[in-house]
Amino acid sequence: MEKRKIKETVGVVGLGYVGLPLALAFAKVAHVVGFDIDQQRIKQMQKGVDPSRELSKDDFKDCDILFTSSLKELAKATFFIIAVPTPVNNANEPDLQPLLGAVETVAKVLKKGDCVVIESTVYPGCTEDDCVPLMEKVSGLRFKKDFKVGYSPERINPGDKVHTLKTTVKIVSGCDAPTLKRVSETYSAIVDAGVYKAQSIKVAEAAKIIENTQRDVNIALMNELSILFDRMGINTFDVLEAAGTKWNFLKFYPGLVGGHCIGVDPYYLVHKAHQLKYHTKVINAGRFVNDSMGGYIGKKIVKGIISGGHAINGARVLVLGITFKEDVSDIRNSKVVNIIDELKSYGVSVDVYDPHADRTEVKKAYGIEMVKSPSKGYDAVVVAVSHNQFRSLKEEDLVALSYKGALLVDVKGLFRGKVSKMRYWSL
Ligand SMILES: NC(=O)c1ccc[n+]([C@@H]2O[C@H](COP(=O)([O-])OP(=O)(O)OC[C@H]3O[C@@H](n4cnc5c(N)ncnc54)[C@H](O)[C@@H]3O)[C@@H](O)[C@H]2O)c1
Repeated sequence: MEKRKIKETVGVVGLGYVGLPLALAFAKVAHVVGFDIDQQRIKQMQKGVDPSRELSKDDFKDCDILFTSSLKELAKATFFIIAVPTPVNNANEPDLQPLLGAVETVAKVLKKGDCVVIESTVYPGCTEDDCVPLMEKVSGLRFKKDFKVGYSPERINPGDKVHTLKTTVKIVSGCDAPTLKRVSETYSAIVDAGVYKAQSIKVAEAAKIIENTQRDVNIALMNELSILFDRMGINTFDVLEAAGTKWNFLKFYPGLVGGHCIGVDPYYLVHKAHQLKYHTKVINAGRFVNDSMGGYIGKKIVKGIISGGHAINGARVLVLGITFKEDVSDIRNSKVVNIIDELKSYGVSVDVYDPHADRTEVKKAYGIEMVKSPSKGYDAVVVAVSHNQFRSLKEEDLVALSYKGALLVDVKGLFRGKVSKMRYWSL
C-alpha cells in the first residue's frame, strides 16, 4: 500500500459503477469508509467481489477500506463523497430521491470541519440549492461556517479501460477558496492526469451535464441523417467515412442511446431550463430522435422480412445483444428493448442472446427470457450491440443462423461491405 498521502478519512456514499472504483482508489492513499444502503452489495464487496462486475478481485488488494451500512462507521469520515444514482421518473423529470436520501444520511453524521462533495450528475444549482439546505436542516450545522461543500463530476465511461479515473482530468470545485484547495488536493492524490479547478460549483455541474448533452444531440443528428439517407438509398456509415476525411468533421455515429447517462442527463438540463422559464428546443429534439430509434429499427426489420417474401406473424428474429452498450453487462435503460417490443407488437417471435448480460436480471427488468444459445432458421438476425464477440463473427456464422436470403440488420454498421449472401440493412 502507498503511504497515506492524505489525512482525510474519506467516506464514499453509494458504491456502484462510480462509487466503488473511487472508494478503492482512495483506499490506496487514505482510510476509506465505503457506505451503501444495499446490504447484499456490501456483503459481496466485503468478499472482494464487485457487484457491478467491472472490477476484479485484484482491484480490492492493498486497500484500507471498510465496507459498511452503518452510520456509526460513516461518522468517522471527514471528507464525504456522494455517488448515488440520479435517474429520471416516468415523465422524464429528475428523480432526486436517491441523492437527497444520501444527503440526509451524510447530514445525520456531519461534524464541524467536514467537507461533502457530490459526484452524482445533477443540473447546475442542485448541490447548493437542493442539497445544502437539507444538510443544514438535518445536521443543524451552518453551511460554509461549520461544513463545506464541493462538486466533482465523474467522467468514467463504462467498459473503457483507457479513459479511467486515474487517466482522465477531474473537474473539482468548492464553495470557497479553501474548500477548492482541499477538494483539489484530495483528488490530486488519486488522479494521475490532474485536476481542473472550476470557477464555481455551478460551473462544474454544468460542465458535466453538457458533456453528455453534447453527445446526445450529435448522435441525434446522425440518427436523423440515417433516416434521411435510408430514403435516399445510401448508407450513412459510407457517408460518414467520406465526410470524416475533412479535418474538422466530428466523428459521431448513429445508434441507440440507452444507459443511465447520455440518455438521461439532458433531461436534468431541460428541467432546470423550465424552472428558469426557458423552453429548450435543440436538446428536446435530440432526445425525441434518439428515443424513437428502437421503434424505427423495429419497423425497418418488419418491412425487410415482408419484402423478402416471408409472413410477419410467426416470423423468427434473433437479436444479438441487449446491454446498453458494447462489452458491458449493464442492461439499464437498454434501447434494444424498444426494437424487441416493436417486433413483438407485429407478432414476431424474438430470441435474444447476449453473453454479457445476466439472464435473471434481464428477466426481472424486461420480462425477457434470453436464449442460452441461438438456434437456426431465423428470418432476420439483428446485431444490436457491437460486443467484441459479435464483431468477430464471419458471414458464414451469420448465414448459418438464418434462412437463405434472410435479412441481416447491422445496427452499428459492423459488417458493411462484408456480407453478400444475406440481404443487408444498417442505420
Ligand atoms: N456509471 C457511469 O459510468 C457514470 C459515469 C459518470 C457519471 N455517473 C453518475 O454517477 C452517479 C452514480 O451512478 P452509478 O452508475 O455509479 O450508479 P449505480 O446504480 O451503479 O450505483 C449506485 C449505488 O448507490 C447506492 N445507493 C442508492 N441510494 C443510496 C443511498 N441513499 N445511500 C447510500 N447508497 C445508496 C446503490 O445501492 C448502488 O450501490 C449518477 O449520478 C450517474 O449519473 C455515472
